[in-house]
Amino acid sequence: MDPQRPSILVVDDEPSITDVVHEYLSTLGYDCTSTSDPEEALRRLRESTFDLVITDLNMGQLSGMDVLKAARGTDASDTMVVLMTAYPTVENAIEALMSGADNYILKPLSLETLKHVVEGSLEKQRLARENVSLKESLALYRASEALEAPLELPEYLNMVLEVALGELEGQAAQLVLLEGDATERRVLQQIRRDPSGGTLKLTEEEMLRLAGELAEESGAMTTTDIGDHGPLLVLPLRAGGDVVGLLAVHRRQGEAAFTPAQTKALSIIGSGAAVAIKNARLYNSLQEQYLGAIRALVAAVEAKDPYTSGHSEKVGQYGQMLAHEVGADQEIIEGMRVVGLLHDAGKIGVQESILLKKGNLTKEEYKHIKDHVNMSMRIIKPLPLPDVVPRAISEHHERLDGSGYPKGLSGEEISLSGRIIAIVDVWDAITSDRIYRTRMNRQEALDTLDDLAIDKLDRELTEIFKNVVPAS
Ligand SMILES: [Fe+2]
Repeated sequence: MDPQRPSILVVDDEPSITDVVHEYLSTLGYDCTSTSDPEEALRRLRESTFDLVITDLNMGQLSGMDVLKAARGTDASDTMVVLMTAYPTVENAIEALMSGADNYILKPLSLETLKHVVEGSLEKQRLARENVSLKESLALYRASEALEAPLELPEYLNMVLEVALGELEGQAAQLVLLEGDATERRVLQQIRRDPSGGTLKLTEEEMLRLAGELAEESGAMTTTDIGDHGPLLVLPLRAGGDVVGLLAVHRRQGEAAFTPAQTKALSIIGSGAAVAIKNARLYNSLQEQYLGAIRALVAAVEAKDPYTSGHSEKVGQYGQMLAHEVGADQEIIEGMRVVGLLHDAGKIGVQESILLKKGNLTKEEYKHIKDHVNMSMRIIKPLPLPDVVPRAISEHHERLDGSGYPKGLSGEEISLSGRIIAIVDVWDAITSDRIYRTRMNRQEALDTLDDLAIDKLDRELTEIFKNVVPAS
């Protein structure tokens, strides 16, 4: 077929008609194919795509409806279909148009009408295609804009739902993140956008079933045959051969079906989402690997000084507890676990003779110990951590009166997470045995915190901590 000229397939069981139409359309410059065998028409439709199909409605065993269905093929197909019939009734006109035919022509044919209908149909198609590319650019623009923005995955996926709802004029949208393969697939997470507050949604079971059915498909599927759902567009989100999620947009029962343009737009929006999910997973697994290495490092630090064994975990737990208690942001609460784990990682660089020294430290030795904070910062530098984590680690020995290290920050210069970590680090240190001293009992430790809260630790946070810290 000539890609420059619109391709038209003509199907009629009367060869005299196909001959006339074929010849006429060819003289008008169209790339025309014709057949009087409906089976042959179906075969050709399986093999290639036509811009327009003109088919007789009544052709013995097969009807024009079969040709129409074959021409529509996938939901993404935008082939125009014109039905020809010699027996016009209101019913078959309605049936033709309801089933997706774009127009119909009455027999006996008038060539003038045929020309008019063909041109009209192709013009409609051209406009629809332009609309698709407009939507594509818009969706791509928005999706790419979002992709470049420093959004976390949940925020990004919420935005994908927002864009999908707006672009597709849907009533609700939902997205599930999946893991596993065909043998065992699980829903990891599900997010929904339903501005109407209605109940348009697929259950996890329905989503999993659709993921299985669509696993081999690349495009979106539009359907209305799931329970009592209205028009529904479902797109498998694929990354590297796996179905990593499913994106669905709903309309209410009785509302118009999604158009091919909208189906295509969803595919574009979804392709951005699939990439983002894949990247986030890769990033998480890299982060886990690095954290695993750091854990090994922390274990090595704690092995150097058996007295500090378990210190990092406990500081993380206490830190999370206090952050939660004071109503800190979720980012700080979650970050505290990592802060606890990593804050003393730099002690790997401190000489054992100094780390384990029983007597007083010389000025030089103390300076060397203090350097563990900078060393910790160097170790965590390659880790993509939220800002609160490195900041808290850098501040865990800072004191409100400026007497701390390494920078001697004071007052408001020290972040909330830095103040939290300072309190819980001191607490775990004084309530644990050290090589150079035994641990304080609870009352002594509480009194020590009170003393430090006069000018070194945050008084308000210390009071809250004292009320919640469990007996160790
Ligand atoms: Fe430290």
